[in-house]
Amino acid sequence: GTPETRTPTGATTGLPPAANGQQGAFLTTAQGARLRDTDHSLKAGPRGPILMQDHHFREKITHFDHERIPERVVHARGAGAHGVFTSYGAAEVTRAGFLRKGKETPVFVRFSTVLGSRGSADTVRDTRGFATKFYTDEGNFDLVGNNMPVFFIQDAIKFPDIIHAGKPHPDREIPQAQSAHDTFWDFVSLHTEAQHHAMWNMSDRGIPRSFRMMEGFGVHTFRLVNAAGETALAKFHWKPKLGVHSLTWEEAQMISGMDPDFHRRDLYDAIEAGAYPEWELGLQIVPDSPEETFANVDLLDPTKFVPEELAPVQPVGMLVLNRTPTNFFAETEQVAFHVGNLVAGIDVTNDPLLQGRLFSYVDTQLTRLAGPNFPQIPINRPHAPVNDLLRDGFHQQAVHTGVAPYRPNSLDGGNPFPAGDDENAFLDVPVTVAEAPKVRASPVSFDDHFSQVRLFWLSMSPVEREHIIRAYTFELSKCYHQEIRERQLRCLANIDPVLCAQVAAGLGLPSPEPTVPPVDVEPSPALSQLGRTWPTD
Ligand code: HEM
Repeated sequence: GTPETRTPTGATTGLPPAANGQQGAFLTTAQGARLRDTDHSLKAGPRGPILMQDHHFREKITHFDHERIPERVVHARGAGAHGVFTSYGAAEVTRAGFLRKGKETPVFVRFSTVLGSRGSADTVRDTRGFATKFYTDEGNFDLVGNNMPVFFIQDAIKFPDIIHAGKPHPDREIPQAQSAHDTFWDFVSLHTEAQHHAMWNMSDRGIPRSFRMMEGFGVHTFRLVNAAGETALAKFHWKPKLGVHSLTWEEAQMISGMDPDFHRRDLYDAIEAGAYPEWELGLQIVPDSPEETFANVDLLDPTKFVPEELAPVQPVGMLVLNRTPTNFFAETEQVAFHVGNLVAGIDVTNDPLLQGRLFSYVDTQLTRLAGPNFPQIPINRPHAPVNDLLRDGFHQQAVHTGVAPYRPNSLDGGNPFPAGDDENAFLDVPVTVAEAPKVRASPVSFDDHFSQVRLFWLSMSPVEREHIIRAYTFELSKCYHQEIRERQLRCLANIDPVLCAQVAAGLGLPSPEPTVPPVDVEPSPALSQLGRTWPTD
């Protein structure tokens, strides 16, 4: 009747503990046989061919030949760090234990660029990933966000398309930098919902000074549920203690050449010097309603943000990164984030981008980390006890006991679902699903692709606008196809005539008329990097 555990210590089976590959004073084979020499292969005489029987040679070379695993299909280049999250408390809105006042939770954070390969430069113009794994007492919670609050597309089915458009062209495999090419601008000018994210990329946010100086956003709207079963809708925000700072374009380009590791070096150096990077976690909380709309913003549309003036970001805790990884591969490469790793008190909404992500992450990790047992890799192991019914598979590390891996059973299972409400158990919020025909369509409220881009543009300071104009001009000047430049200018005309005219002038092209009349919008000062206030001690 004792529940099984996954602990690979073999305590119940008498097997030795899992090797860490660095035990004892002597060099051995992977089988533990002590070696005399690792510099010479076994040959038929000193000048002869290598003998097939040389087990050490074959083991060493074979293992090396298989050292590489596939890089992530997106966010391949990243840098991670360990830390601790301390909650200020958020019990009014969520039953999540790690958000109880004073609770400390270990975390691992991985920052990344999106489009470059694993060896690409840090300071390219791109979105940055900001993924956090909270090892909570109630299981792992992953907040897999970016440094921009909006995304390119509204439906996950277009994710392969936007990534194909943004990755290097398949014929010449250039460029590594995101935005300087035809397919990127072709996509964002044809799929105009991408215009908003594209402008964030063209803004100073696309070239951060440091990971330590980036905001983070969960992007989607999540549904929170408190101990009383009351729900609220929420967006997650990370606010860096150091404020948001960017490089200038000239700096970014020079640093790409002089120190392509600039951001990871900055992160590791800061932590090792004791200057621990800090972020405050905040929630924008809005009432749950059947419309899932707030201030005319459809909360299921990931190309829209909720202005902070309308729903202030309420601080709920502090993240401190205080330890660099010991081994890049074991931690930063093998970590597997997933938006579906949720804990009681935090649930998903029907945002069609989020819904698609719920499928994609485990799916890709099945290949990247070779099989279904990657949650057992040390960096991915929950700190909460695990008692699942998953068995066997490639790279199984657990030595499961018992004979009846199903529940309930009458042989060795006990009762994993004790009577009564367990407040720590995950809760699927019983939201009503509208009775509607099956369709491949999006709601009409997803159709406005320009007014929030205009809002962002009008919220910028003069110097930030100047940078945006220069970024569009530079990136579009790299397009070979005139029709793509012209189509993108027509999108800019719908965002703002002044912006459009200036970029058109820089490209030596006529400035087109808007096809959608620009709407009146109220600027949101919180969007500007200048003149912001930040959390203080
Ligand atoms: C990886 C964020 C949308 C598929 C990542 C990572 C981040 C991220 C931060 C890197 C995780 C790490 O450091 O290991 C986001 C955000 C999105 C978004 C904020 C939109 C709001 C999507 C969509 C899909 C997707 C729509 C697919 C339908 C992937 C895949 C990976 C990834 C396949 C690689 C994961 C791995 O190999 O472990 N994403 N993503 N993402 N994302 Fe997304």
